[in-house]
Amino acid sequence: MKKVQFTETILRDANQSLAATRLPYDSFAPILADMDKAGFYSAECWGGATFDVCLRFLNEDPWERLRRIRAAMPNTRLQMLLRGQNILGYKHYSDDVVRRFVRASVRNGIDIIRIFDALNDPANLKVAVEETVASGAIASGAISYTVSPVHTLEKYVELAKEFKQMGVSSICIKDMAGILTPQSCYDLVSAIKDAVDLPLVLHTHCTTGLAFMTYLKGVEAGADVIDTAISPFSGGTSQPATETLFYALREMGCETGLNEDILNRMADFFKPIRADYLADGTIDPISMATDPRCLTYQIPGGMLSNLLSQLKMLNAADKFDAALEETPKVRADMGYPPLVTPTSQLVGTQAVQNVLAGERYKNVGAEMKAYCRGEYGKTPAPIDQAVMAKILGDEKPVEGRYAETLPADTYEKAEAELGDRARCEEDVLSYIAFPEVADRFFARRAEAEERRVRYSIVEI
Ligand code: CO
Repeated sequence: MKKVQFTETILRDANQSLAATRLPYDSFAPILADMDKAGFYSAECWGGATFDVCLRFLNEDPWERLRRIRAAMPNTRLQMLLRGQNILGYKHYSDDVVRRFVRASVRNGIDIIRIFDALNDPANLKVAVEETVASGAIASGAISYTVSPVHTLEKYVELAKEFKQMGVSSICIKDMAGILTPQSCYDLVSAIKDAVDLPLVLHTHCTTGLAFMTYLKGVEAGADVIDTAISPFSGGTSQPATETLFYALREMGCETGLNEDILNRMADFFKPIRADYLADGTIDPISMATDPRCLTYQIPGGMLSNLLSQLKMLNAADKFDAALEETPKVRADMGYPPLVTPTSQLVGTQAVQNVLAGERYKNVGAEMKAYCRGEYGKTPAPIDQAVMAKILGDEKPVEGRYAETLPADTYEKAEAELGDRARCEEDVLSYIAFPEVADRFFARRAEAEERRVRYSIVEI
């Protein structure tokens, strides 16, 4: 019997895609013991935006959250998403910081680190993969899926081979925009499975409505693991529903290892949470809709709404169609980067700038200049020569790996800056990733503790 396993994304991607990652630990704590027995291949529960949102909005220490999930789910592999050399932030960090972050993640409870890079530049995954393996955890190499004249089957297969050579234990096809079609998925999975002898994981979103079909064709072609979300937090910009795929695959004779009763209990648990979040506006009903336009524009759903809100803020909503048309052109000029954080923001912002200025690349932000200097890594195709010359002028692009040009004492400097405010290496790493946000969190934490001390004195 064919075995297909499930990664449950409710705690991370589903939470992030539908509820802007606003689920506090206490909201899902009561279901973790059940989830632990559901039979998932893994539970994606950390990384991505969870870290930033914990510190910024939920007043939770993300490391503490991880340790609590670990304690509540001793039998399930805990999984995180890591942006390679960007760790969880938006810029490049030195190798030392990447290594420390990976080690701390594993030390606090992570079993699987899914590592990706927005440009699919293997040099940006290398150090994170190495350190994950050295820490005794499972490294999963994720291919950021996109469609362009240079993203051929051969290129993807080559990338999967490179990941294997680096030491990853599985390959993940990461389709952040939901644009992987059933037939392309079948072809891609077949090609990678033929060339690389590793388990293959599929990750997609329901944005365009293709996801269920895409998974079925992927499984038919030999995919080993699929990412799904328990039904109340599935669909729309999130993953397809866990229970639905469980039923479909079981009927097709696949062994999933999942416990149906527990899946139903999980769904019952999360239904009222979804209702509350819909009522208070945390979940925008639009995010639960199907939007096949992304297939035409090849632009992720999140980017469409970002473009519109950027233009609205500038009182230029009437330029939306022009910006939509400009986006793929900017992407082509920039060497066809997959549109995922942070390249989606770079390309989207530049398209808006070009349309507003009425002249292309007249206004260029610091991040875009850094991109052209090569600070984000090697682009899938060369950047258009004329555009590059206009943006950089006399400036020279970096040679080799940008991370190696960064100061090696980032950690020590941050530690010294923080002094007493940091209590452990984890605090310093939070601060390196999100300086102001982490500092505000440390201050609130100290205040809360002082209040508790005072309160207990009064009680006596
Ligand atoms: Co995703």
